[in-house]
Amino acid sequence: MIIIKSRDEIKKMAKASEIVAEALTVIRSVVAPDVTTKELERIAEEVIRSRGGRPAFKGYRGYPASICTSVNSEIVHGIPSDEVLLHEGDIVSVDLGVIYKGYIGDAAVTLPVGRISEETGRLLDITEQALYEGIGKAVPGNRVSDISNAIQRFVESNGYSVVRAFVGHGVGRSLHEEPQIPNFGPPGKGPVLKEGMTLAIEPMVNEGSYRVTILADGWTAKTADGKLSAHFEHTVLVTKDKPRILTKWA
Ligand code: MF3
Ligand code: CO
Repeated sequence: MIIIKSRDEIKKMAKASEIVAEALTVIRSVVAPDVTTKELERIAEEVIRSRGGRPAFKGYRGYPASICTSVNSEIVHGIPSDEVLLHEGDIVSVDLGVIYKGYIGDAAVTLPVGRISEETGRLLDITEQALYEGIGKAVPGNRVSDISNAIQRFVESNGYSVVRAFVGHGVGRSLHEEPQIPNFGPPGKGPVLKEGMTLAIEPMVNEGSYRVTILADGWTAKTADGKLSAHFEHTVLVTKDKPRILTKWA
């Protein structure tokens, strides 16, 4: 069942999402060569707690950290570590969820570390644009897979592949609610979208093959071919006008 949120629930989700956006903005400003991913987690936690929120990922299905930091060929669910130092030219996906008064906001951004190559910059641009292609389809009367199809077509027409092993999702009181939102598939399938639904749309885009391997830590998902991957995510409210991005940053 897809939960339609009340006005009051949306307010709480908007506040949670605002904290997500603030934390990601601070993280964007500190990502640089020689910073560790553990340092990013410490900073995120500080911002989240100082605004009255709690990290939504910590302990979720046993996940051991407050954010996910996935570097280069890592796709999602990289665990922050004192041992992982960022280097000039790397990219790092930072995925962050916040609980505020019982409601969750969830977003991710892939950031360049120092100067990156033009080729890598293009991967980031196309992935972010793919997210917006998907968001544009989050309107009442469309079906879930209209989002999926828009993302897949945009990504593949630009020469990249979309990851199949992970999907976007409804979000609210729980991090993962119905519906699942794949980033691939034919249009016109799945549940009809309605005003008041809150969706986390999150394309993961690979330079090479879409295939994934999971590392021995049981969490980190990497590209099977070792090529780069990027990930962008927003929490979005379906309204009768245009989709409202709750996690929007400046
Ligand atoms: N944004 C990711 C998701 O929605 C983050 C979940 S990480 C987990 O799936 F550790 F909490 F599982
Ligand atoms: Co998510």
